[in-house]
Amino acid sequence: MQTIHTIAALRHALAGCGATSFVPTMGNLHEGHLALVREAGRQGGPVVASIFVNRLQFAPHEDFDRYPRTLARDCELLAEAGCDIVFAPDESEFYPQPQTYAVRPDPALADILEGEFRPGFFSGVCTVVLKLFACVQPAVAVFGKKDYQQWKVVGRMVEQFALPIRIVGGETVRAEDGLALSSRNGYLNPDERARAVGLSRALARVRDAWMTGAHDAAGLEASAVAELRSGGWVSDYVSIRRQSDLVVPTSQDRAVGAPVVVLAAARMGSTRLIDNVEGGTA
Ligand code: PAJ
Repeated sequence: MQTIHTIAALRHALAGCGATSFVPTMGNLHEGHLALVREAGRQGGPVVASIFVNRLQFAPHEDFDRYPRTLARDCELLAEAGCDIVFAPDESEFYPQPQTYAVRPDPALADILEGEFRPGFFSGVCTVVLKLFACVQPAVAVFGKKDYQQWKVVGRMVEQFALPIRIVGGETVRAEDGLALSSRNGYLNPDERARAVGLSRALARVRDAWMTGAHDAAGLEASAVAELRSGGWVSDYVSIRRQSDLVVPTSQDRAVGAPVVVLAAARMGSTRLIDNVEGGTA
């Protein structure tokens, strides 16, 4: 495995490589990221992973400075998972001048849910992802469904800009108790970690109720928020949405059985986590 820090060296290494499969990350890798790397391997061609903590997607009060940076360990894990090239630029390489050009994602998809609570977040994500795509020029890029809305926002960007890249969604990898793996789980103290299982449990309960025919979305969402509150969480949102475009399901969607996803963001102490579960039909 090659570890590369500059765009020029990356282009040199990729020349003549043929079609690659790409996994963008911010590092501090866990089994969720590594599952995406293995999925990229199954997609064919050499596997490229990037490690770059992207300032553009952090608001000033967020955790950019304390976001864990563990490059040496990440490279060991990537090599074991079958990655061929790691692209880990530093900020002065990737943003040699202030990144004043930006992608403005579709507000219908990017200003809801996470976008409502983190204004500008998806613009920051799309801008870095577009630039990473320009550097790597992959045939396939793999994104985790753990960040469901991000996966959808990137997919629509690729469609609207006609980028010749196939976006693949990888399933969410969870700890044994159901907590979705996240680099931010490391911020939880032992007591918070023990209670954190409540998030995936609350989502599963909403999904199960919906799928057995309880279609009072507002009622289900409110009882999940109450359940989370009694478990020590402060919720930003719990929301049942259509899988295809994250719109609130209509009675017509229920009639045709459009598949849904239940998404949530909540804070445990000072740690904000997101999760979601897919459900078969609306
Ligand atoms: P990061 O949070 O490092 O996540 C990198 C990729 O790993 C994303 O596609 C994310 O959805 C996926 N991932 C994280 N936890 C996962 C889990 N438990 N199971 C499956 N996949 C998981 O997402 C980002 O970085 C950034 O926004 C990025 C796309 C790199 C742009 O900066």
